[in-house]
Amino acid sequence: MTTSATKEATTRYAQRFVGRAAAGHFRDAQRIVLSSLGIGTYLGQPDKKTDEAYTAAVVAAVEGGINVIDSAVNYRFQRSERSIGAALPQLAAKGFLREEIVLCTKGGYLTPDSSMPADPNEYFFREYIQHGIFTAKDLAAGSHCMTPKFLKDQLGRSLKNLGVECVDIYYLHNPETQLSEIAKPEFLERVRKAFEFLESAVGAGEIRYYGMATWNGFRQDARARDAVQLVEMAQIAQEIAGGMHHFRFVQVPFNLGMTEALTLGNQILRERRRTLVEVAGDLDITVVASASLLQGQVARNLPPLVAEAFGLKNDAERALQFARSAPGITTALVGMSRAEHVKANARLVGVASATVDEFGKLFSRGESA
Ligand SMILES: NC(=O)c1ccc[n+]([C@@H]2O[C@H](COP(=O)([O-])OP(=O)(O)OC[C@H]3O[C@@H](n4cnc5c(N)ncnc54)[C@H](OP(=O)(O)O)[C@@H]3O)[C@@H](O)[C@H]2O)c1
Repeated sequence: MTTSATKEATTRYAQRFVGRAAAGHFRDAQRIVLSSLGIGTYLGQPDKKTDEAYTAAVVAAVEGGINVIDSAVNYRFQRSERSIGAALPQLAAKGFLREEIVLCTKGGYLTPDSSMPADPNEYFFREYIQHGIFTAKDLAAGSHCMTPKFLKDQLGRSLKNLGVECVDIYYLHNPETQLSEIAKPEFLERVRKAFEFLESAVGAGEIRYYGMATWNGFRQDARARDAVQLVEMAQIAQEIAGGMHHFRFVQVPFNLGMTEALTLGNQILRERRRTLVEVAGDLDITVVASASLLQGQVARNLPPLVAEAFGLKNDAERALQFARSAPGITTALVGMSRAEHVKANARLVGVASATVDEFGKLFSRGESA
C-alpha cells in the first residue's frame, strides 16, 4: 500500500481544528476530507527566493487549517512541485503526516527543468524526442501533449519532485488546448487513451484519483470549438473502468468575475441544458475552483454590494468567501507564495461559509444593480 490521503487521516486533520474551524470548513468528498480553501502554486518567478517563500507558505497553510495543495509539473518550471516537496518533511517534523494532506498536481504542458534553457528546442529533443517520449505529431499548440507515454514520464517527474509515492489527484492540464488543432473525435480518442493510462496509474498506486483542470473547456458556450462536455468525459471513464472509475475531480476557474460553472447552462445532461456544478453533482464528480481571486484582481475594489452580502474584513476575504461558499464547489484554490497571505486568508477557516440565501442575495442584487 502506498501512502496517500486517507479518510481516517484527513478526518484526524480536521479534528485538530475543532474549536478553531467553523462548521462546514472541512468537507467530505470522494472518501477524503478537504478544506474549503486550498493553496495554489502557479504564479511567481522561477527563482530560489520564490521557492523558499512557497515552501514556507505551504507549511503555514497546513498549520493553519488548509490541507489541499495544488500544483502542476510546469508551474515555475517544476520548482513549485519541488517547493512543496521541501515543505512535506518540515510538516512531518511538526507532526503533520502525508496522509492528512490532499496533494494535487497536473500534467500536459511541456516544461523545462528549473530554468528556461538557452536552446529550448535542443533541450526538448535531447530530453524527450530522442527517448521516444513524444513525437512532433503528438503535440498541440507546440506545447501540449497527453499521450500515455508522455503522461507516464510526467507523473514520474512529479512524484520525484514532490518526494512522494502517490499523488491524490492528478489532473490532465487544460486538455481543451488540444481542440485548437484536432477535431472532436480525435480529441475523444486521446482522452480515452489518457484515461486508460490514468486508471492504470491508480492500479499501480501512483495516483488516487484523476481529473481535468481546465481554463476554457467547461466555461465556454457548448458550441465553442474548445468546449468540453463533462458527461462525455465521464462516459469514457465509465467505459474503461465501469462505475468504480476514478475520474472524480474537475478544476475550473471560478471567482467573482468568472461565474460560469455555477451560472451558465453549457452542459447537456439527458437532453437538458445544465450548469457544470449540476452535472458534476449528478455524476459524483467533485468541483474545485481555481483562480479564486482572478489572479489577485478581485482582492480589492469590489462593488459595495459584496461587502453588504458577506460582511468580513476586506475584499480579498469577500472574494474567497464567494468562491468557497458557492453551492457545488468543494475547495477554492488561492495562489499564495507569501506566508502573510496564507495567514490572512486562513482567518476564513474560522468563518462559516455564506449560506445559500446570503449567496443568492448577491446574485439577485447583482442582476438588479
Ligand atoms: N487551468 C488550470 O489548471 C489552472 C489555472 C489557474 C489556476 N490554477 C490553480 O489555481 C490556483 C489559484 O489560481 P492563481 O494562483 O492563478 O490565482 P488566484 O488564486 O486568483 O490569485 C493569486 C494571487 O493573489 C495573491 N493573493 C493571495 N491572497 C491575497 C490576499 N489576501 N490579498 C491580496 N492578494 C492576495 C497572490 O499573491 P502572493 O503569491 O504574493 O501570495 C497571487 O498573486 C493556482 O495557483 C493553481 O494551483 C489552475
